[in-house]
Amino acid sequence: MLAFNPRDPAFIANPYPFYRQLRAAMPVWTDPTGRTFLTKYEDVSLMVRDRRMGRNFKNPDTLIRRFGPTALDEPAVVELSKMMLMQDPPDHTRLRGLVAKVFTARKMEDMRAGIQTITDRLLDKVQAKGEMDAVRDLAFPLPVLVICELLGIPEEDRDHFVNGTASGGALLNPVVPTREELDRANQSSKTSALYFERLFALRRKEPRDDLLSLLVQAEEAGDRLTSEELRANVTLLFGAGHETTVNLIGNGLWSLHRNPSQWAAIRDDPSLIPNAIEEILRYESPVQIVGREAAEPIEFSGTTVQPGTPMVALLGAANRDPDVFPDPDRMDVTRERLKPLSFGGGIHFCLGAQLARIEAEVVFRTLLRRMPDLTLPNVDAPKWRESFTLRGLTTLPATWSPARH
Ligand code: HEM
Repeated sequence: MLAFNPRDPAFIANPYPFYRQLRAAMPVWTDPTGRTFLTKYEDVSLMVRDRRMGRNFKNPDTLIRRFGPTALDEPAVVELSKMMLMQDPPDHTRLRGLVAKVFTARKMEDMRAGIQTITDRLLDKVQAKGEMDAVRDLAFPLPVLVICELLGIPEEDRDHFVNGTASGGALLNPVVPTREELDRANQSSKTSALYFERLFALRRKEPRDDLLSLLVQAEEAGDRLTSEELRANVTLLFGAGHETTVNLIGNGLWSLHRNPSQWAAIRDDPSLIPNAIEEILRYESPVQIVGREAAEPIEFSGTTVQPGTPMVALLGAANRDPDVFPDPDRMDVTRERLKPLSFGGGIHFCLGAQLARIEAEVVFRTLLRRMPDLTLPNVDAPKWRESFTLRGLTTLPATWSPARH
C-alpha cells in the first residue's frame, strides 16, 4: 500500500523510490483525502500549462480545505493568498505585469558582475581557513544578498537576513498545517510585515531606483496594487528569491560530489556548467511540488479529473520520468535536450529562473577556479531540511587546501 507522508524524515531524505513506484503503478493517484497526485512528465507539464487549471484561492472553501477550519483568520494564509503565485487571471496578470518589468533578461544579465563580487567576498572570508559550511557561508547568504540588492534593502539591514535561517515554507507542504506550523508562519509573516511597512514608508517619501520603490509607486497609483498585495508580493519575492536558490547551489554541490565523475567533468570542461545546472535542477529539484485545482474536467494519462479536485504535481518525480529521461536516476551533466520542470511552467513559470541560473553558474565557476580541490567530508551523510516541498540541506561542510588560489 502506498503511503505519502511529507513530514517523514526518511521520505524527505529519499523520496525517489516512492515516486518511482507511484509513477509505475498509479501515475494519477488520488489519496484518501481526495488530492490527486501526478508523477509523469507529460501530465505535470500539462497541469502547469493548461488554462483549465487554476488556484482558486479566492474561494474561502479552497483555503479551508487546504489550510484547515481557521484558514480565513490566519494572517499567514491570508498573506499567501494575495501572492501572485496563488492568484488566477486577471489578478495574476496584473500583479506579475508589475514585477516582470524588472525581471527582464537584460536586467538579470546586468546583475552578473554584482553576483560575482558577492561570491568572491563570501569566499574571501573562508579561503585561507581551508574549510567552510557551504550552506551557511555561501549557498544561503549569496541569494539573500542578491535579492536584497534587487529589492533595495538597505545595506545596514542585510546582515540581519544573512544571519537568519530559511523559514521552511511549511504552508507550501501538501498537507493541512499543524497549529504549531500555523503559529510559526503567522509570527514570521508579522515580523516581515512590520519590517517592510517601515521600508515602504521610507520609499514613499524618497523613491529610489529599486524594485521596492517601483512597487510602492504602483500601490500609490491606487488601482494597480493594494497595500495588502504590495506586502504579500514583496514577501514572496524575498522568500522565493532565496529559499530556493540556496537549495539549487547546495543540492548541486552535494550531488556533483556524490557523483565525483560529474564534478570532475565540469572541472575539466567548465563550458559544461550551464548544462550541469539543468541536470542539477532535474536530479535534485529544489522545489518538489506545485499545486493547482481543476476548474473544468481534464484528462491526465487516460483519467478524467473533475472540477474542484485539488491537484499536486510532483516535480521531482516528473524530472525522473524514464519516458523522457533515459536512466533517470543517473546524474549526467552532458545530457542533451534537458527541460526539467523544476521552475514550473505556463503563466506561473518562475520569474527568477534566469537569476537563479546565473547565481548557480557564478558559484560553480568560482569554486572550481578558487578551490579546485574542494571536497565534502560528509558527502555520504547529508542533513536534509525538514521541508519536503523545498528540498535542501541544512549544512554542507567543505574543505580544500588553503594554499591554492
Ligand atoms: C533554483 C531556484 C528557484 C526555483 C527552483 C524556483 C521554482 C519556482 C517554481 C516551481 C515556481 C512555480 C510555482 C507554481 O507554478 O505553482 C516559481 C514561481 C515563482 N518564482 Fe521561483 N524558483 C527559484 C528561484 C526564484 C528566484 C531567484 C526568484 C526571484 C528573485 C523567484 C521568484 C518567483 C516568483 C515571483 C514566482 C511566482 C510567479 C507567478 O506566480 O507568476 N524564484 N518558482
